[in-house]
Amino acid sequence: MPGREVFGEEEIQKVAEVLKRGVLFRYGFDTQRQGVFLTAQFEKEFAQFLGAKYALGVSSGTAALKTALEGLNLSKKTEVLTPCFTFVATIESIEEAGLKPVLCDIDESLNISVEDIKSQISKKTSAILPVHMMGSACDMASIMEVSQSAGIPVVEDACQATGAQYQGKKLGTFGKYGCFSFDYVKVLTTGEGGMVVTDDENLYRQADWYHDHGHPHRTDLARGVEERMRKGTNFRMNEIQAALGIAQLKKLPSIIETHKRNKALIKQALEKYDFISFRKHNDSQGEIATFLAFFLPDEKKAEKFKDKMKANGINPGILNYWHFFANIQSVKTRRSFKKSKKILERAVVIEILVKMEAEKIADTLDKICREF
Ligand SMILES: Cc1ncc(COP(=O)(O)O)c(C=O)c1O
Repeated sequence: MPGREVFGEEEIQKVAEVLKRGVLFRYGFDTQRQGVFLTAQFEKEFAQFLGAKYALGVSSGTAALKTALEGLNLSKKTEVLTPCFTFVATIESIEEAGLKPVLCDIDESLNISVEDIKSQISKKTSAILPVHMMGSACDMASIMEVSQSAGIPVVEDACQATGAQYQGKKLGTFGKYGCFSFDYVKVLTTGEGGMVVTDDENLYRQADWYHDHGHPHRTDLARGVEERMRKGTNFRMNEIQAALGIAQLKKLPSIIETHKRNKALIKQALEKYDFISFRKHNDSQGEIATFLAFFLPDEKKAEKFKDKMKANGINPGILNYWHFFANIQSVKTRRSFKKSKKILERAVVIEILVKMEAEKIADTLDKICREF
């Protein structure tokens, strides 16, 4: 999954150019920077890549989510629906924005269950925050239908899904805002970093002002003498992150292509066995193949299978703690999410890399299955 696997001359050269120019701040320093604004360039290229009107570089995926929720100016203490299976940052950003996370079950797509969104929606709901877990789309057609009929905005957590699509449209471009992470383990990495995208000019402005203390970013006035537009914070992206982002974005299509090839090789080995079933994809062509997720018939068998994998040098991913129990603890909900727990307990996950011995892993898995 990580873009760091393909760091090369392109990243080194871009970062070196920033250091030689000496301007790491995205705004101002006009004489010294000689017309080079890399964060603005990365935003433009990222927006083009997604087919979105506006993109705003921020300091992390968590910051992107917080910026989006603040940008919507939702009434404090209202409820935001989000899946129980997500990285804890999704929940934290809702809480940090003064809102109440309401967790929903997932289904066998490992993404939020639309049925459960419908059962949890109420007069207190101010937003729906679906998460495209492990690079694969939520059921966006149904989610947008619920959103439109209830008049409730969607913010997409696409932090794990840069470059993924649903029915030919990039994830992150369905909701009012889409949020991305470029942290060190992501498919496109800037070390730490993130992006907020939107098609709405007003929402873009709100996010732009919020992420930089309320600065309006006027080109006709010096920073520090302009009017403050709203309360904000510092979630700015810097020029080194943007330099990495520009280089990595060029490599993203080939990263995804390689993932798909490696994943297909490994999946083939497992497809022959009836006791294995696979994660459901709402768009199997559009996913970015960062993970292969499959199910064993029950928890005991899944644990046994993972033990066999470990014994044979294949590392199975962990889905439960930071992505499930920590969320439930944080929200202090009375629901136990038995349905989701049962799905996660049966699941086995393999991270797909650019540089991996896919054929060898496929052979090992085949051997494990034959003896299972
Ligand atoms: C689903 C999800 N949301 C949000 C985040 C937060 O991103 P960051 O680490 O860039 O703050 C992550 C990071 O792993 C994530 O997986």
